[in-house]
Amino acid sequence: MSKRTETVIIVGATSDIACATARALATQYNLILAGRNSEVLKAIAQDIMVRTDCVVSTLPFEALNTEDHAELVASCFEQADSIAGAVVCHGFLPDQVQAQRDWELARKTLDVNFTSCVSVLEPLMARLETQGRGFIAVISSVAGDRGRQSNYLYGAAKGGLSVYLQGLRNRGAHSGVHVLTVKPGFVATAMTLGLVNPNSFLVAQPQQVARDIVRGIRRRRNVVYSRWFWRIIMLIIRTIPECIFKRLRL
Ligand SMILES: NC(=O)c1ccc[n+]([C@@H]2O[C@H](COP(=O)([O-])OP(=O)(O)OC[C@H]3O[C@@H](n4cnc5c(N)ncnc54)[C@H](OP(=O)(O)O)[C@@H]3O)[C@@H](O)[C@H]2O)c1
Repeated sequence: MSKRTETVIIVGATSDIACATARALATQYNLILAGRNSEVLKAIAQDIMVRTDCVVSTLPFEALNTEDHAELVASCFEQADSIAGAVVCHGFLPDQVQAQRDWELARKTLDVNFTSCVSVLEPLMARLETQGRGFIAVISSVAGDRGRQSNYLYGAAKGGLSVYLQGLRNRGAHSGVHVLTVKPGFVATAMTLGLVNPNSFLVAQPQQVARDIVRGIRRRRNVVYSRWFWRIIMLIIRTIPECIFKRLRL
């Protein structure tokens, strides 16, 4: 029987970073895992339950079905005695050049990485505001800190998400709801398979990002870069004057 009294919702729970975060949070909370692949989701839930005495349930989540998201949030609050917070992890990285030629792909990039986060977070914030406590941690990206030709559609969605989270944080601060923006650099996950060298020092493992997320939640941080040195890298990148930046091949 689980001794945990509070539950955390993980959206996009089949993501490698989400999985690692779920395992880290399972030491303290029961979990509701939401994702679109029910078989994988159930396998993750089963694996966490055999390793801990955490109660893990699963719910279907398709990011593009934004009209279902308020109901998803409502079911989470009906299922659990007490919701401590949520971690929103889903995301989609397209081939930038292909997305420039294919509007449907471009729109999917914006919808999965931005619109669907808003459609989940609005009802979630309303619920947490009502209970007067809780946390929301959302995975944005360093790609949202400055637009680059190699990934500006994904970057624009993440940049929009980061600004949205600033506003949500400001809103939550008046009712005891903590909002954490997580900005990973490169992470060795399914998303970057074949795109990054997983052994490079610049590339984090999902477990390292998960540790940063859990620490950020506990310390009620506003923005966490993962790994930490991306804060410095992005500070330098942001300070390059636009007249020079636009000429670089980035
Ligand atoms: N990896 C990096 O270098 C990096 C860097 C910065 C930020 N991030 C962000 O970190 C987060 C986690 O990504 P990851 O690196 O862990 O990659 P990942 O393992 O590929 O996870 C992506 C997740 O998004 C889900 N997803 C994609 N489209 C969806 C849709 N239409 N409906 C529902 N779920 C959908 C995937 O579900 P399925 O399993 O069903 O496909 C999967 O759970 C994302 O927000 C990503 O943008 C990653």
